[in-house]
Amino acid sequence: MSTASLDAPVSPEPRAAIRVERLSKRYKDVLAVDDVSFTVAPGEIFGFMGHNGAGKTTTIKMLLGLVRPTSGAASVLGHDIVRESLDVRRVSGFLPGSYALPKEMTAASFLTYIASMFGMPREASRARVDELLSLFGLTGVAHKKLGGFSSGMTQKVGLAQALLNEPRVLFLDEPTSGLDPIGRHEFLQHIRHLAKDKGVTVMFSTHILSDIESICEGVAVLHRGRLVAAGPLDALRRRYGESRMDDLYLKLARAHEAHAGVRS
Ligand SMILES: Nc1ncnc2c1ncn2[C@@H]1O[C@H](COP(=O)(O)OP(=O)(O)OP(=O)(O)O)[C@@H](O)[C@H]1O
Ligand SMILES: [Mg+2]
Repeated sequence: MSTASLDAPVSPEPRAAIRVERLSKRYKDVLAVDDVSFTVAPGEIFGFMGHNGAGKTTTIKMLLGLVRPTSGAASVLGHDIVRESLDVRRVSGFLPGSYALPKEMTAASFLTYIASMFGMPREASRARVDELLSLFGLTGVAHKKLGGFSSGMTQKVGLAQALLNEPRVLFLDEPTSGLDPIGRHEFLQHIRHLAKDKGVTVMFSTHILSDIESICEGVAVLHRGRLVAAGPLDALRRRYGESRMDDLYLKLARAHEAHAGVRS
């Protein structure tokens, strides 16, 4: 019997939790994502901005192996998104933008069902579901049907679902839309806690610039499938001479619009 594996060096944590290299996706005549590259550091909260139809959801789905790239490459914690998509999903959690929860299931039974999809043993699943229900203040409604949940409660169940497998990387597609100010604040606090205290890397798309401002270190801005800017938010603010997030975003989008006009 070989003992080599016991002595094998532990592979170092990759420097980038998410690495995207010249990624593109074409749907017939629509170039949804066009030659996009960026990296996200481990433990970073990374905001993904862009107008409607910019390509945010398509990029996130490619990273999770749900949509096949037309060209380019990407990895999540060193796992190739095409060849090792099962590994990517094992280490990732995903909260989709539009998430229709099964109305007739209770919060507890839904989360238990998702845990079984991950192959979690029954005892471990029960403990994890209880832990997450408690974390999100849902213990009191654990046995109520999801059909009666408000959008804020639904979002919390969605985030709990995304955290069941204790992911190292979390992808959230417009997670705070539809939440009231307190719900949004609490949700962002959870995200901050996951990144700062648990080292989870978080990539989230949003149209809500104040969310970016309050929790993101790094951002990427997409415009019509193209990357307009990416990097640490502070560096982008300095580079473009805009301290307010909405001014910075508008400047980037307009500059790209003017540039695209010249090209076409
Ligand atoms: N399955 C698909 N088939 C054809 N075209 C698609 C498909 N999915 C997305 N697209 C197109 O790709 C482009 C990018 O869409 P995507 O959903 O990624 O944008 P988004 O940035 O997430 O927008 P939003 O802010 O509205 O959610 C759009 O032009 C969209 O119409
Ligand atoms: Mg989208």
